[in-house]
Amino acid sequence: MVDRHRIELVVNGETETQEVEPRRLLVDFLREDLGLLGAHIGCEHGVCGTCTVLMNGETIRSCITFAVQADGQEITTVEGLASNGKFHPVQEAFWEKQGLQCGYCTPAMMLRTVEILRENPSPTRDQVREGIASQLCRCTGYQYIIDAVLEAARTMSAGAETDGKVLVKQGAGPSSAEAAAQTQGSGPALEEEAEDASRQKES
Ligand code: FES
Ligand code: FES
Repeated sequence: MVDRHRIELVVNGETETQEVEPRRLLVDFLREDLGLLGAHIGCEHGVCGTCTVLMNGETIRSCITFAVQADGQEITTVEGLASNGKFHPVQEAFWEKQGLQCGYCTPAMMLRTVEILRENPSPTRDQVREGIASQLCRCTGYQYIIDAVLEAARTMSAGAETDGKVLVKQGAGPSSAEAAAQTQGSGPALEEEAEDASRQKES
């Protein structure tokens, strides 16, 4: 008989109690057991960042986190960003600035943006570049994503309503920053290539 563990966690403000196998990945738990499809699966190795969710307000890779590790924790997926029928300012900014193309990286990118802006509400463009280097995007060239993050910073600083539970809480879990160490090389390099291409086009 397969060993199962009872876990209780808060997901997007709702308490969830389930029995899971010890090897059940958090991303599979969220997608298949709770039907929260915003956490996407890409590399399944903790590199690309498409599976990013917030655990107690900090980004983690849900593809390399077991569901049992989330026992007793608070998880936020992209589905939890909007509240009272209103988009989160970060969602608004990605919409306004067209910070997406296919959208596959977007839920994770927005959750990472929430974390970036909680840690630094007024980042420079270079700080945003560095901040999103943990998240790979195959489509956009990153420029509009950076625009969206800066727009979110502007509107949130101007007093737009934000979801306190997402922005305030700190907690444990394998952080994106750790996983980002593996991707630091590829993110900025792609951005630089996109910028070079853009400059050549303009000249
Ligand atoms: S799917 Fe989790 S980091 Fe790529
Ligand atoms: S918008 Fe397609 S991967 Fe980022």
